[in-house]
Amino acid sequence: MKKSIKFLPLILVLLVCACFAFAACGETDDEGKLDLTDSSKVLVAYFSATGNTEKAAGYIAQETGGTLYEIVPQIPYTEDDLKYYTDCRADKEQNDPLARPAISGSVEDMASYEVIFLGYPIWHGQAPKIIYTFLESYGFSGKTIIPFCTSASSGMGNSANNLHGLVSGATWLSGERFASNVAQSAVQNWLNGLTY
Ligand SMILES: Cc1cc2nc3c(=O)[nH]c(=O)nc-3n(C[C@H](O)[C@H](O)[C@H](O)COP(=O)(O)O)c2cc1C
Repeated sequence: MKKSIKFLPLILVLLVCACFAFAACGETDDEGKLDLTDSSKVLVAYFSATGNTEKAAGYIAQETGGTLYEIVPQIPYTEDDLKYYTDCRADKEQNDPLARPAISGSVEDMASYEVIFLGYPIWHGQAPKIIYTFLESYGFSGKTIIPFCTSASSGMGNSANNLHGLVSGATWLSGERFASNVAQSAVQNWLNGLTY
């Protein structure tokens, strides 16, 4: 009897710890869900060389009421720049770890956004280097970033993980790849699974 009383404080401490652990599990379950009720805090930033990712971004902005922002290259990509596997400009940039193509303009009041959808085409399995320029141009601490991409056939692969490595203090959701001819219903279905 006496022995069990002696262990009572320890048992209580263990019980409290178990409660905290349980509560923490609940939070993790909610992590994939996103609150988009305040559309003024949602930014849909994208780069698109031939209009496919722009379409997906437009659908996301339409669904969420978020602000669209196009990442515009200071030097536009010509048709020849995009002929991949010809050592074209895009090929060279993707092969160069230090390439950071300049962006024309900037996001007005980045501080006001809490949720950022970030869209890009897959270029040789990765995000175009201009997305790296974008991520290195702002602070994203405390924000939630949701990558999305379009491609001819590749998946998102490790493109988003590599972007994640450039940013500190943000929460990244796993993101989605859409086909080049992205359908509005595909974007809607994805968003519905993401939000509450
Ligand atoms: C330089 C370059 C590299 C590409 N690499 C890939 C690739 O690795 N895998 C793939 O499925 N599509 C690849 N594509 C095709 C694009 O990802 C696809 O057409 C995309 O939808 C283009 O989006 P946009 O119209 O927004 O620029 C590449 C296109 C370019 C220009």
